[in-house]
Amino acid sequence: MQLHSFSHQHEAARAVAELIVSRIKAFGPNMNRPFVLCLPTGSTPVPVYRELALMCMNGVISFEFVITINLDEYFGLPADHPQSYAYFMEQEFFSKVDIPPSQTHLLSGINPDPEFECARYEALIEKLGGIHLLFAGIGANGHVAFNEPGSSFGSRTRVVALDEDTRRVNARFFASVDEVPTHALSMGLGTILDAREIIVLATGASKRHGVQEAIEGPLTHLASLNAYPHKYHTLTPSP
Ligand code: PGA
Repeated sequence: MQLHSFSHQHEAARAVAELIVSRIKAFGPNMNRPFVLCLPTGSTPVPVYRELALMCMNGVISFEFVITINLDEYFGLPADHPQSYAYFMEQEFFSKVDIPPSQTHLLSGINPDPEFECARYEALIEKLGGIHLLFAGIGANGHVAFNEPGSSFGSRTRVVALDEDTRRVNARFFASVDEVPTHALSMGLGTILDAREIIVLATGASKRHGVQEAIEGPLTHLASLNAYPHKYHTLTPSP
């Protein structure tokens, strides 16, 4: 594991964007051999997407032979819902780069058979030959994708119940916390750990305990802040 720290969010974002670009270039994707990139949503990746879009606009990188697959989606939200992750990805990234829409994949939040949807996603990843590079954020409670504390290291893509704290933190994007879905579809930790390379980016003071425990704490599926509820509950969501 390599750990890099930066003084400013934009420096971290540039470093992550440059790393993604360098991995795609080194791979040299083509029509028959695309690069499989797994992507997150949330506030953290926004400046990274901005950097990547700029580099694409300036001809530094092309996503023509990149296939993206997202980490998670809210259960019950259609792709055109402004708070769905499909909508977020379209606004923040896909519409700003040269990736063909047929090469972008997300879990559907409205498949009437969510178990089937999760199995479909696992099969898709396998068919693609696995994920070359996975970029993730980390929640204040240590979650990665929507694998809340307690998720097994071997978990695969599945329907998950969201922690009340996660719903409260994410309520900033909704009219009220009651509108935040109670469930999501999420790649599992096992699915994530199968990726050939993983970048986890954390920015802001609210992440410090989660990051510290992830790096220095014991290896446990209970995640950091479950063990430190007094710290967890003093965290304030970013505006
Ligand atoms: P954030 O979310 O980037 O909005 O802080 C990260 C996460 O919950 O994984």
